[in-house]
Amino acid sequence: MNMKLKTMLLGLSVMTALSAFAQKPVYLDTGKPIEERVKDALNRMTLEEKVKMIHAQSKFSSAGVPRLGIPEVWATDGPHGIRPEVLWDEWDQAGWTNDSCIAYPALTCLSATWNPEMSHLYGKSIGEEARYRKKDILLGPGVNIYRTPLNGRNFEYMGEDPYLSATMVVPYIKGVQENGVAACVKHYALNNQEFNRHTTNVQLSDRALYEIYLPAFKAAVQEGGTWSIMGSYNLYQGQHACHNKRLLKDILRDEWGFDGVVVSDWGGVHNTEQAIRNGMDLEFGSWTNGLSAGTRNAYDNYYLAFPYLKLIKEGKVGTKELDEKVINILRLIFRTSMDPYKPFGSLGSPEHGQAGRKIAEEGIVLLQNKNNVLPVDLNKTKKIAVIGENAIKMMTVGGGSSSLKVKYEISPLDGLKNRVGSQAEVVYARGYVGDPTGEYNGVKTGQDLKDDRSEDELLAEALQVAKDADYVIFFGGLNKSNHQDCEDSDRASLGLPYAQDRVISELAKVNKKLIVVNISGNAVAMPWVNDVPAIVQGWFLGSEAGTALASVLVGDTNPSGKLPFTFPAKLEDVGAHKLGEYPGNKEELAKSKHRGDTINETYHEDIFVGYRWADKEKIKPLFPFGHGLSYTTFVYGKPSADKKTMTADDTISFTVNVKNTGTREGQEVVQLYISDKKSSLPRPVKELKAFQKVRLAPGEEKEVTLTVDKKALSFFDDGKHEWVAEPGKFEAVIGSSSRDIRGIVSFELK
Ligand code: BGC
Repeated sequence: MNMKLKTMLLGLSVMTALSAFAQKPVYLDTGKPIEERVKDALNRMTLEEKVKMIHAQSKFSSAGVPRLGIPEVWATDGPHGIRPEVLWDEWDQAGWTNDSCIAYPALTCLSATWNPEMSHLYGKSIGEEARYRKKDILLGPGVNIYRTPLNGRNFEYMGEDPYLSATMVVPYIKGVQENGVAACVKHYALNNQEFNRHTTNVQLSDRALYEIYLPAFKAAVQEGGTWSIMGSYNLYQGQHACHNKRLLKDILRDEWGFDGVVVSDWGGVHNTEQAIRNGMDLEFGSWTNGLSAGTRNAYDNYYLAFPYLKLIKEGKVGTKELDEKVINILRLIFRTSMDPYKPFGSLGSPEHGQAGRKIAEEGIVLLQNKNNVLPVDLNKTKKIAVIGENAIKMMTVGGGSSSLKVKYEISPLDGLKNRVGSQAEVVYARGYVGDPTGEYNGVKTGQDLKDDRSEDELLAEALQVAKDADYVIFFGGLNKSNHQDCEDSDRASLGLPYAQDRVISELAKVNKKLIVVNISGNAVAMPWVNDVPAIVQGWFLGSEAGTALASVLVGDTNPSGKLPFTFPAKLEDVGAHKLGEYPGNKEELAKSKHRGDTINETYHEDIFVGYRWADKEKIKPLFPFGHGLSYTTFVYGKPSADKKTMTADDTISFTVNVKNTGTREGQEVVQLYISDKKSSLPRPVKELKAFQKVRLAPGEEKEVTLTVDKKALSFFDDGKHEWVAEPGKFEAVIGSSSRDIRGIVSFELK
C-alpha cells in the first residue's frame, strides 16, 4: 500500500472513531425508543454488572452501572407517605432533618371515598413527594383483599371488593407515575393475613383466585400500567409468591403482559433456582447477616447475588433469565430516574396537606346518626366533652413499614379545638389507656402518654366531664401497635381493646348526645351500637386527621364516604372464620412447634368474601359494604335500562334519577350490583360492577347513568380457564349501599 493511501485510511479511521466518540450511545439517546436503549445498555454490561443490578445493595437500593452512568434504583415505603431515610444497612433513622413528609389517609379511607379523582390526587401528591426525595419506586399501593377483619394490615389495602379495589388502584398508579416514579403494587398475591405470613400456604380455587383476589392486580397492570409489582411473603401451591411460577410467569407475564419489574418483599426470596426461573427480578431483604457469613458485603449472599453468579460461572444455568431481569430493571430506570422530562416534585407542601385533608374528608363514613345528633350545632353548644386516647394519640408512627415521620399531624382533639375556637368549651378526659408508647425505628412521636390511673379512675373522670356536656365525642378504636392495625401480627379479636366497650356504654348512660368516632383500618365489634346515637368511621387520616374529622363533626363537610368492607356483627359472620380455616389448618397449627413450618390454609369460603358471604348466608351485618350516611337525604327515581336484552359484544346502560331532598349540598355514591338469576355455577347474590359519586345541591336532581358490558356479567370458569357470561336473565340492582337497595331492573343476555 502506498504512503498516501495509508495516510488516507488512517485519517478515515480516526474520523470514524472521533464521530463515534461525539455520537451519543443509543442507551443515552432519549430520542430513541426505550426498548432500543434497553437493548443497547444490556449489550454493554458485563456479567458481574448484570448480577449486581438484580439484588439489593442497601436496605432500600440496588446497584446501577457506574461505569456506564446508569444510576442506582432507590425505593421507599409507601403507601401513605414517604418513609424517612434509614441508614444504609440499618432500619434506624439516618437522622436527616429534611425528610419529614405529609401523611395521607390510609388506603382504606381512600377507598371509602369511592371517588377515583381522589385516588388520582393521592397518587399525584405522594408521587411528587417521592420524586422530591429522589425515589424511583414507591412501595405501594396495596390491594390485598379484606378477607378477615383480624388481618393486621387491612388498613393498607382497599377493602373487600375486587371491583372497587381495581377501580381505585388505577388512578393512584397513574398519579404516582406521572412523576417519573414507579408504583409498586403489593403484595402479589394472597397475602390476606399477617399471622404466619412467611409460612402460610394458601389453597384456593381458581375461581376465587381470578374473581376475588387477582382483579385489582390485573387492573393495576393492564389499566394502571404499573411499572413494578411486589411479590408477597406467603406461599401458594407450595411455592413462595416471590418465586411462584404460576403467579409470576403464567399469570403476570404471560396472561397479563406485565413489562415491569417484580420486586421481592423484603426477605421474601428463599431459593436461588426458583428465583432465577420463576420471574423474580429484583431481590430486597430485611436482614444481612454479614458477621456469621463472613463476607465483606453481606448483600453478596442474597439468593440473586453470588449464588446466582456461581451457577452461571459453573455453567449450571444460562444467562437468558438474567438478561430478562436486567431488561426489566433497565426499562424501569429509563422510565424513572433516566427520564429527562420528569418533574422535580415537592415535599410537605401546603398543597399536599390540603390534598390529604380533602381525601380524608371524603373518606370519613357516617355509620349511624339517630335523631340527627350530628352535625354538632355550635350555635347551641356551650361544652363539648372529648373522651378517649385516640383523640390525642399520633397515628402516623407505628404499624410497620408504613410508619412515617411527618411534618405535622393534627390530632382529633386539636382539630376540634381549632375549629370550635371560642364558640364553646372543649374539655378532654382520657377515658382509657391503650398504648402510651410512640416510637418506630427511631422515629419518636415525642408524646408522653403515660398515665398510671386505674380503669375505674379514668372512667370516673370521663363520666364527670361528660355528664353535663352538650355533646360527648369519644375517639377510640384501634392503634398502630402489635395486634392492632399493624404489620406482622393479626388482631386477637373483633372487639375493641383496652376495655373501651365499658367506657362507651357508661358514657351512653350519662349523656344522650354521644358520638363515637372509631379510628381504625378494620371493622370492630360494637356491642353498644343501640345505645349510641351517632357513630363515625374515622380511619387513620394522616397529617390532617383532626382538621378533617372536625370538619365532618361540625358539618362544614357533609360526609360522603361509604364502607369499602363489611362490618360484621361477630367473627362467625365472616366466611373465613365460620368455615374454620383462619389462620391456617387447625391440625397443622397444633402440630407445628416452631414458626418455620409451612401451614396450609384453604379458603373454604371460596368466592364468598365480605358481602358476598353475608348475602349468601342471609346475615345482617352490623354495617354493610357500601354503607355511609349523609347530613342530607337522597331520593332515587325508578331506574331504567336502555335495552331489555343485550348481546355479548354490546353494552347496557342503566339510568336513575337521584335527587337531594334535604337542605344542604351533599354527595351520594350510586352503586350498581349485578345479579345473575340462573347460572351453571354458584354465584354471589349480587356483585358490585359500577358506581358513581354525584354532588347535588339542595333540591337538585341528576340523572346518573352506569354502563356495563359482558365482563360485568361473567364468572371465571375454572374448567375452561376463561371468563364466561352465560345467556339468561340478570338484574341490575341499584342501591345506596349493598343492603339499601333503591331499584332493580331486569334484563337478558342473549
Ligand atoms: C413489607 C413491605 C414493605 C417492605 C419494605 C416489608 O416488610 O411487607 O410492604 O414495603 O417491608 O419496608
